[in-house]
Formats: sequence, C-alpha cells, structure tokens
Amino acid sequence: MSHPPILRGLDELRATIAPWQAKGARIGVVPTMGALHDGHLSLVELAKKDCDHVIVTIFVNPMQFNNPDDLESYPRTEHSDAGKLERFDIDVLYVPDGPQMYPEGFASTVTVQGLTDVLCGAHRPGHFDGVATVVAKLFLQTAATDAYFGEKDFQQLQIVRRMARDLDIPIKVHGCPTIREIDGLAMSSRNLLLSDRARVTAPRLYEEMERVAQEIATGTPFSQLQAPAMKRLEDAGYTEVEYFEMRANDDLSLLDAPTRPARLLAAAWLAGVRLIDNIAIEP
Ligand code: PAF
Repeated sequence: MSHPPILRGLDELRATIAPWQAKGARIGVVPTMGALHDGHLSLVELAKKDCDHVIVTIFVNPMQFNNPDDLESYPRTEHSDAGKLERFDIDVLYVPDGPQMYPEGFASTVTVQGLTDVLCGAHRPGHFDGVATVVAKLFLQTAATDAYFGEKDFQQLQIVRRMARDLDIPIKVHGCPTIREIDGLAMSSRNLLLSDRARVTAPRLYEEMERVAQEIATGTPFSQLQAPAMKRLEDAGYTEVEYFEMRANDDLSLLDAPTRPARLLAAAWLAGVRLIDNIAIEP
C-alpha cells in the first residue's frame, strides 16, 4: 500500500475530478484540518462505502482561529496522516496551502446568521465565519456530491448544512456519529495537546453529560441540573466551563426539557486545552 496521491493545487484537483464529473460519479469529500484520528477515519470509511471517488482534504484554516497561539500550536502531521489513509485507497488527499485558499486580495466571507451566535460562536468570535467560508470553498473546489462531518462538532454540522442549503450547493451533508476513546473521551485532534494528568481527567466531561442525560430522562428540568454539573466539572479539574446547555437540534434554541430532538452540548477548558462534546437527548 502506498500513500494516497497528494494534490496541492486547485488546477490539478480540477483536472483530476473533471472525468469523474463527466461520468456523473458520486464524489465524497471529508474536510479535515489533519492530525487524523479514528473519528476522521470513520468518516473516510463511510465516504468509501457510499461514493465512487473520495477526496480527503487537510487544511489548517487560519480564518477559523481567533487565537494566534491556538493556530500555532494546532498539530500538523501530514506525513503520518497520509500513512493512516493508505488502507482506505482514497483517490486524492488535497492539501492546499494558505495562498491557494486565500490568494492576495481575498475579500469574501460566508456568514450563517443565528446558528453562529450561540455556544462556540459566542465564545469564539468569527470562528464559524471562517468555517463556513472554507467549507463553502472546499465544496466548490472538490465538486463533491457528498460531504462527511462528525457529530462531535454538532454546531458546525448544522451550520454547514444550512450554508449548503442557503447557497444552493448541490451536496448531501452527512452527520456521522462521534467516535470515543475506550474511557468515553470524544476523539479530537486537540486530545494530543493534553498532558498525561489532564488526559486522566478529560473523560469527566462525557461522564457528566451522561449523568445529566439520565436525570433529564427521569423528568428533571435541565435548569436544575446545569449549575451542579458545571460545578462538579470544575471540582474535577476543569478550569472553566464555557457552556453546558441543552438545545434543540434544528435551530439550536435553548430547552429546559426535551420537547423535541435535542442535544446536550458542552465546552470546557482543561489545563489550557479547550474540549467540546455533545450527546443526543431524545424527546
Ligand atoms: O472540523 C474541522 O476539522 C474544521 O472545522 C473543518 C470542517 C475541516 C473546516 O476547516
């Protein structure tokens, strides 16, 4: 097995996909920022099952980082990423550079209103503009018919769906289940930044969400559960819980009881690393 063909330029990408498009092939794209883990690989596996051709993209998108240190410290592991993709026999690993994605004079931003104001959007100003802009570009550049995103970034998934719908981009956006470590910690490229000590504490976030979900299932209003859950996380070693909320799946509005399909969503800092997670709450 050898590394997948790596393309860095848009012209060569377009030349590669033109015959696929001419045949009406199903083209799957898995957009990533690299540092691939089993969560990403599960998306590639699903794309391979559905599609005639699969493109994985790696681009650490500066436009979605609102903190220069965070951008600087984001793991960059292209060689090992390419190695992890070998067994999937994908068609293209597209790795554009900054000027390829944002050439001199680049002046356009895709903003999805409403869904971006809450949760991560409230704590990371401009983050989702960066995500929506780069994902719109990747959808158009790859001409994919299907795109695969993890439910781990649930807000991102809903924003991408809305963006594609609003802009009439003919692509099906698939939301795929969160993949977890054996102790429940949601897989994330940021887990690589956790110290050994912080890694031991990290699964408490998921444990707390599961505990609260069980209490919601017994009929307890979320408003009675929220503050104690946040306190328990801080007692466990999380330095700041940015949010711990229950929201409706479709429009991300706040809920106190799961009167419609909902998610429990949380973001919290642990030893300098920001972790997010969410779980489904059925009505
Ligand atoms: O989820 C990610 O890794 C990124 O936000 C994405 C979708 C690749 C856009 O840069």
